Amino acid sequence: MFGRVSEPFHQPIDASTRYCAVYGHPVRHSASPAMQNAGIAQLGLNWRYLAFEVLPDDLRVAIDGAKAMRFIGLNLTVPHKILALDIVDVVEQSARNWGAVNTIRFEGIAPSGEWRPLPELDAPPKAVRSHGFNTDADAITRAIEEDLGMALTGKKVLLLGAGGAGRTAALKVAQQGIAELFLVNRTFSKAEELAAEIASIVPGVRVQVGYPRAKVDLLLNATSLGLKTEDQLPFDQNALSLRNVFAVYDMIYRPAETTLLKAAKAAGSRTANGLGMLLYQGAAALEIWSGKSAPIQTMRAALEKNIHA
Ligand code: ATR
Repeated sequence: MFGRVSEPFHQPIDASTRYCAVYGHPVRHSASPAMQNAGIAQLGLNWRYLAFEVLPDDLRVAIDGAKAMRFIGLNLTVPHKILALDIVDVVEQSARNWGAVNTIRFEGIAPSGEWRPLPELDAPPKAVRSHGFNTDADAITRAIEEDLGMALTGKKVLLLGAGGAGRTAALKVAQQGIAELFLVNRTFSKAEELAAEIASIVPGVRVQVGYPRAKVDLLLNATSLGLKTEDQLPFDQNALSLRNVFAVYDMIYRPAETTLLKAAKAAGSRTANGLGMLLYQGAAALEIWSGKSAPIQTMRAALEKNIHA
């Protein structure tokens, strides 16, 4: 029907439709609604996934609003992930570990006295709480392993970027039993701080600030360089040749092929973009909300369509 070509639902919205949403600022380019609605429809759930532009000062009231309206759950993106740690009622271990919440599940008290996800309750609960999780970190390593066909154990890794995404990637990758981690960031002091944090949390990993002198197995881009098509490469070409890099993972997914990935392909490296990370964090969130296995292929196809549109 006209204007509804991307609508994956056969069942129209009615009074029993339940909602999930992503909150961000900015949020209008988020691919999550396309991905999650495809997954939700495939699971046959009468849910919809929305996107809301929420200012950081309004985050608490926006989460309370979703709780009051008995939303199933929320995803949080920039700049809300760290703020939410102090807002949710309960912080799950994954969110505590990474110091950030990207997924909230709303839970109600069952007649047995246990807190259960809202879809599992037959009657409207008297009390509802927000439960914060983090599905980003696991998604990073799953995407590297599945999309690049690479096990991280024993590998030498160069990570570019020491912002929020870089920190999570560095800590998570360091915990996979890698041999050596090189950290490079425009602001040198942030790379030094991150190296010190890794050394204290994962003492078994050799961490160095600066470029490797020899070949590395994986270059991971966690900087924002590449988001614009005119961006330069995110590393110093006098200090590193892509011919010395076996595989490149760029956490950016839009554009699908960044300047870095183009150059890496030309140099013969194995490559993957950040689509897998977005997919796996979203699939894990849908599983947390629904208690069902996420339909990965359907969600991937919806993401690819959205990103290439
Ligand atoms: P995110 O949450 O996506 O990680 P962020 O915390 O703002 O966002 O981090 C952005 C990363 O991209 C940082 O590593 C940043 O380097 P600085 O720590 O020096 O700011 C990096 N970055 C952003 N613009 C850059 C540029 N023009 N050149 C090099 N690095 C850049």
